[in-house]
Amino acid sequence: MHIETIVSEFKARYHATPRLFKAPGRVNLIGEHTDYNDGFVFPMALDRYTHVAVAPRADRRVDVYSANLKEEFSFSLDNNEHAQHHWSDYIAGMAHVLEKAGYALPGAMLYIHSDVPVGSGLSSSAALEVSSALAFLSLISQIIPGPELARLAQKAENQFVGMNCGIMDQFISIHGRADHALLLDCRSLNYELVPLDSSHARIVVCNTMVKHELGASAYNQRRQECETGVRIMQKQWPEIKALRDVTLEKFGGIQADLPAVVARRCRHVISEDERVLESVGALKHNQLRYFGEKMNASHDSLRDDYQVSCDELDQMVEIARAQPGCMGARMTGGGFGGCTVNLVELEQVEAFCANVEKMYQQRTGHKPQIYVSVPSQGAGEKIL
Ligand code: GLA
Repeated sequence: MHIETIVSEFKARYHATPRLFKAPGRVNLIGEHTDYNDGFVFPMALDRYTHVAVAPRADRRVDVYSANLKEEFSFSLDNNEHAQHHWSDYIAGMAHVLEKAGYALPGAMLYIHSDVPVGSGLSSSAALEVSSALAFLSLISQIIPGPELARLAQKAENQFVGMNCGIMDQFISIHGRADHALLLDCRSLNYELVPLDSSHARIVVCNTMVKHELGASAYNQRRQECETGVRIMQKQWPEIKALRDVTLEKFGGIQADLPAVVARRCRHVISEDERVLESVGALKHNQLRYFGEKMNASHDSLRDDYQVSCDELDQMVEIARAQPGCMGARMTGGGFGGCTVNLVELEQVEAFCANVEKMYQQRTGHKPQIYVSVPSQGAGEKIL
């Protein structure tokens, strides 16, 4: 949907002139299920955005219209304590968290359009939280520093929506930069923007078009298994606070003392943190092949040790790896469906997309969506 259309439809619906805010979805290149273990992630913002047009109301009512769903919803800021199990929860949750943090908001009229695919593991929810947070804050002329805003958006999702996610998605949606991926230390929230040279390769995102319902409960279960691992290891090493504090070498000496499943979960997270740092180091020296190998190892670890892949993701990865010019392929995001991320040599991208599309459909019966992506700019106002 064009910006002009969003604005003109806003005006026709609400008879007011809006400001416009946008926030992107993301794809994580490497560092999966490490964020809630105080570890490292390496995502980039996608060139797919959620746009929110906004104008204030004189009372405390919030009217929201979703152009994607062609559906409207209203709520009062005075009666906004609980989720309604509705798409508007991300917006209501954001308003709730902002008010709790001391930002008294007026009512608002919102018009929303998103081209981040929903339910595909590309963080459409973070894009909605962040864009609506900026929209609400504009009404009171407030700016919140990026890391703090990311924490508040995560809080909206954890405490209001009820999804116990880490900080990665909200953080990259805010801090993404064109032509860069972002190395984030999820403990300190220190980050580094690392240039992604697109003259030799492309990031190709392949959507399996499936989403297995297991997702949310399995996610929380994995978190608990990681915490169990930390608790057991703390008996021997009281100084550790999270899996981030354990090296693979150190872990080797204790893993036999952990329950088998807990040991596998911990091994994934600890090895994944090391893969992130090694692969980012390699990328800085333009060693794309090495980066791709680490992506492959990440997938294998997520499939075998963390057990958050699924047949469709494994098929997509297997097909991708067999294509000429594919340097690395892995599932991305929480797992149990959604997307894979692939590093593909520039000259081979077209053939890669055509072959993967055909072969995945032949094997699974699902027609995939494929997005050739460039790292894009994070959230902000679109000046009209
Ligand atoms: C989801 C969560 C993130 C992160 C990933 C797994 O996308 O929202 O916080 O934990 O899963 O890496």
